This record gives sequence, C-alpha cells and structure tokens, in this order.
Amino acid sequence: MKKFSVVIAGGGSTFTPGIVMMMLENRDRFPMRELVLYDNDKERQAVLGEALSILIKEQAPELKFSYTTNPEVAFTNRDFCMAHIRAGQYNMREKDEKIPLRHGVIGQETCGPGGIAYGMRSITGMLEIIDYMEKYSPNCWMLNYSNPAAIVAEACRVLRPNAKVLNICDMPVGTLRRMSQIINKQPQDLEVRYFGLNHFGWWTSVKDKEGHEYLDEIKDYVAENGYLTQVEVDTQHMDPSWQETHKKAKDLLAINPRYLPNTYLKYYLYPDYEVAHSNPDFTRANEVMEGREKQVFTAAREIIEKGTAENSNFHIDSHASFIVDLARAIAFNTHERMLMIVENNGAIANFPDDAMVEVPCIVGSDGVEPLAQGKIPNFEQALMYQQVTVEKLVVEAYIEGSYQKLWQALTLSKTIPSAKVAKDVLDDLIEANKDYWPELS
Ligand code: NAD
Ligand code: G6P
Ligand code: MN
Repeated sequence: MKKFSVVIAGGGSTFTPGIVMMMLENRDRFPMRELVLYDNDKERQAVLGEALSILIKEQAPELKFSYTTNPEVAFTNRDFCMAHIRAGQYNMREKDEKIPLRHGVIGQETCGPGGIAYGMRSITGMLEIIDYMEKYSPNCWMLNYSNPAAIVAEACRVLRPNAKVLNICDMPVGTLRRMSQIINKQPQDLEVRYFGLNHFGWWTSVKDKEGHEYLDEIKDYVAENGYLTQVEVDTQHMDPSWQETHKKAKDLLAINPRYLPNTYLKYYLYPDYEVAHSNPDFTRANEVMEGREKQVFTAAREIIEKGTAENSNFHIDSHASFIVDLARAIAFNTHERMLMIVENNGAIANFPDDAMVEVPCIVGSDGVEPLAQGKIPNFEQALMYQQVTVEKLVVEAYIEGSYQKLWQALTLSKTIPSAKVAKDVLDDLIEANKDYWPELS
C-alpha cells in the first residue's frame, strides 16, 4: 500500500495531539511515511512538537516526524495538508466574542459579527498556506477545517478557484453520532440527506442501509431533550456551554418541526436568549483557554519533562477519524459519502449556483461530487439566502477593502438589530483587528 506524506498546518493547535494520535491509530487504513507540523508561532508549536516527537518515537518509530516554521520545509514533498489554523489565536477569539456582547449582540467564534471578524483574519492566513502548498507540492490536497469555514470556502471559491482545497466541518459528524445513540445504531450504519450552509443547515433524512427512515423517531427525542444524550460522545463537546447548545436544539425544532436542525442555528433564531445567557466577561474562549488549551499544553510539558509519553494525558480524538475517511477517499478513490462545503451548482435546486453550501457529496480521487438535494422550502431558503449574502459581502469587502460592504454584511446578519448597532460593532472590531485585517475605506 502507498504511504503518504502529511503536513499539519496549525501544528500548535489544541487539536493537534488528538488528531496525530487518531492518525497513528488509523495507520492501517491510511499509511504514513512522513508527518510534519507547520505553524507560524515557533514557541507554541515547539511544546506540542517536542512532546509528539517523544510519543511517536515510542509508538511509531518507523514514521519520520518533525516540526518547522519554514514553509518550504513544511510543504515540500507532501501528499496531504490537514489545515486547522486560527488566525489571531485565542486572544483574538476572545475579542470576537466579547466586543459584540458589549453591544448586546451575539459574540461567537463563527456566527454573527465575531465570525465575520474571524473571517476577515482567516482569509489572509488561508491564502498564505494554500499558496505555499501550490508552490512546493502542486499535487497536494488540503483538507481544511480552519474556521470560519463558510467564509474561508467562499474566499477560496473566488480567489483560488482551482486550488485543491476541500472544506469540511465536524459538527454534522458529531451530531450524527448523537442521533445514532438516540436510535441505538452506529453512525456508519446511517446515511443522511442534508442541506444548508456551514453551521447553518438541516437533516431531511436519516436512514439505515436497509432504507428505514428514523427522522420522526429522532425528532420525538429532540423535541424533549435536544441532542443531549446520556453517553459521552466526544471530549470536545461536553463542556457546560456545549451541553446547553445540544439542549437548545429542542427550541430549534419547535420553530421548524419539519427537519432536524444544526445546533448553530440557535445564534440566528434565538439571539436574544443567547445574549441574555452569555457572560460578557467569561465567554467560550475563556472556557477553552482554562480547559482544553491548558490541559493539552500541560500534558505536553509533562511528556517533555518525563522524557516519555507513557501514561500521558494526551487523548486520542477518535471522533476526528472523518479526516482519515476523507484522506482515504481521495487517496484510494473510495467514493465515501460525506457532508462537504462545496459550490452549489444545482445541488440545491432553488438556490444560487455560486453559493458555497453544505450537502452530502461523493468523494474520490478527483475530489467531491455533490448529490442533488432537490428544492428546499421558503423558510430555510430565505434564511440561507440572507446568511450566504452576508458571507459573500465579507469576501467582497476583504478583496475591495470596502468599509461599506462590511457594514452591509454586519447589518444583514440576522444576529444584528440595526445598521446603527452594526456600525458601532464594526468600528470596535476594526480597532481590535488592525494588525490582521486589510485596510478598509
Ligand atoms: P489554536 O489557536 O489552538 O491553534 C491554531 C494554530 O494555528 C496556532 O498554533 C496558531 O499559531 C496557528 N496559526 C495561525 N495562523 C497561522 C498561519 N497563517 N500559518 C500557520 N499557522 C498559523 O486553535 P484551535 O482551537 O486548536 O483551533 C484550530 C482551528 O480549527 C480553528 O480554526 C478552529 O475554528 C478549527 N476547528 C474547526 C472545526 C471544524 O469542524 N471545521 C472543528 C474544530 C476546530
Ligand atoms: C465544532 C464546530 C467547529 C468549531 C468547534 C468549536 O466542532 O464544528 O467549527 O470550531 O465546534 O469548539 P470549541 O470547543 O473551540 O468551542
Ligand atoms: Mn465547524
């Protein structure tokens, strides 16, 4: 079997150890000859890089492993780039969340003004790594899950239309796992139909391989409990704030009982509730900095100190195995069916061709082929049209350096009540992001 050479961009990510361990566990399905971490923050990455080199020496000595901040070294001779960068790191995520809240508006990583601010930073970082990849390994595929994926995907569509970049999100994967628990099945036994945008969509069917439809059964459960299940699903989404998110799906189903909702819709459909239940002095960024980030970096320092990864506190992120499924689909032409963020081109019949949508796709060596989801109802269509236009305006504002278009984007976002509030939030975000955003006029 062919062995692959992989670079992880955003090597200093809190998700890197979990994903590396997941890839080690899946070596029989996706053999690797070389693994390199790449980051633009040398100190941050070195902590995880050192710890992982100890772990890999012990658990997979045949695998060539290194970490670097040199793009040429990182991107030369690679088959795959797994990308999870966070432009501005947690310091800026905290601002994305807290600045809008000061104005009484949703403060969230990927939704509303926080997501727009993050998008304006991410486009630059993403273009940078895509260009390195194309320069040093023109045949390499990028599997991107850097956020905000919707804006990143639209920016790629416009600015790098021929780049071999596939955008994917783990939220539908995690939620399907919860659904499978509700009906006592395994996620791999289920096949779904779904339409929407990233962090903005609905399941229209959840069937087993024999064709039995479980949508109603799952809805009955969600109407009572949301997606909250008793069994632990993954380590990432068990914190108190995430449990609240899973529960809130109950209210998303109440307003639109036809389909099963993506949990992120709560920021658009219940923004007043979300703002009222947010603490403007302690947001998700603080929860993660005190939780996952501290845990991962403490575990790494312990490994370095002890000189061994035996009994370490690095935990495998088994739910991230969809990344291996995606890499395998391309490497071995498996025609795996996965939800991907792709250019619509008719997949949703009554939605613009040039919108980046999230739908089931068949993935093979040539990339992704979206599956037709037919026509969608008015309510969902109108919500999606509003949101996709926000995302397009952000990318246009970025390219043209247009203050006006970014103001329009914020004003159009369902999370913001008026053009006046949009302007106030925008002016604060510009000030906070002056080291990252293109200049706007
Ligand atoms: P993190 O801040 O811990 O890690 C991100 C790393 O990227 C940092 O070490 C940072 O220095 C690095 N980085 C930033 N800009 C870079 C650039 N231009 N080149 C190279 N490296 C760069 O963040 P995290 O919480 O671990 O999340 C990482 C990313 O993964 C985020 O974008 C997050 O939103 C995303 N994510 C996506 C999904 C999904 O479903 N799509 C799921 C989980 C996380
Ligand atoms: C889900 C989403 C990601 C998002 C993450 C945030 O997995 O699909 O896009 O980045 O949640 O998780 P966090 O634990 O950082 O709040
Ligand atoms: Mn996501």
